[in-house]
Amino acid sequence: MSTQTGSNRPAKITTQTVVEMKQKGEKISMLTAYDFTMGKIIDEAGIDVILVGDSASNVMAGYETTVPMTLDHMVYHASCVVRAVDRALVIGDLPFMSYQVTPKEALISAGRMMKEAGVHAVKLEGGKPIIDTVKKIVDAGIPVMGHLGLTPQSIYKFGTYKVRAQEDEEAEGLIRDAKLLEEAGCFSIVLEKIPAKLAAKVTEELSIPTIGIGAGSECDGQVLVIHDMLGMNKDFSPRFLRRYADIHGVMTEAVQHYIKDVKSKDFPNKDEQYGG
Ligand code: KIV
Repeated sequence: MSTQTGSNRPAKITTQTVVEMKQKGEKISMLTAYDFTMGKIIDEAGIDVILVGDSASNVMAGYETTVPMTLDHMVYHASCVVRAVDRALVIGDLPFMSYQVTPKEALISAGRMMKEAGVHAVKLEGGKPIIDTVKKIVDAGIPVMGHLGLTPQSIYKFGTYKVRAQEDEEAEGLIRDAKLLEEAGCFSIVLEKIPAKLAAKVTEELSIPTIGIGAGSECDGQVLVIHDMLGMNKDFSPRFLRRYADIHGVMTEAVQHYIKDVKSKDFPNKDEQYGG
């Protein structure tokens, strides 16, 4: 990917850029997006990394978990975002059961995300059990972001979305997994819903950046689901979420205003229709 700045186009963020940002102590901003319009707005606003997360399952498709998402769904969402983006690094989630069976199948899935959707990297959940898979994908030239801590695709194994790795044994396992993912070639790792002290330790011990969600301030970057941080849904309020807008309120008011104008025949007025 070119990082040329000869034109007015902004320098593109690459996987190398985010690793360098860690080295320079510059925090990395990451948000999710699932469609063209949202991708364009957050890219133009200057976000560093866009994740086409399988959280699309919850916020776009209305499923309770991320489990039902298919590779075809993810290719579709990712391709919509990629068409919108000029500058940000675009990462696509590999959905549940598109990479767990064999490394070969995982590579085929990652290849589809890159060739058909145009993402610059893929993200996979898990540690030791997927190390050979990560190596195979990276060896084929596809950058991989890891994801440890709360891994929503395993919700039926955990049975709950509560904070992970609060006990020493699980925390030590997470540190071991993070090092294995780095050795396997991951360029970055998402740490989801783990104690801030543990995330700080992982961040210090790795040379690749950590991106936290509910993992405290010491991570090298932060990620939030765009619908959550914009206040588009009112019923999801975990401790780690900061809402930067009340889009639910803004949209509700606008829609109610429109309904009123239609019913009262105020809309459309003379200037909003064609002559003749
Ligand atoms: O799918 C997703 O949005 C994610 C983030 C929460 C990291 O994996």
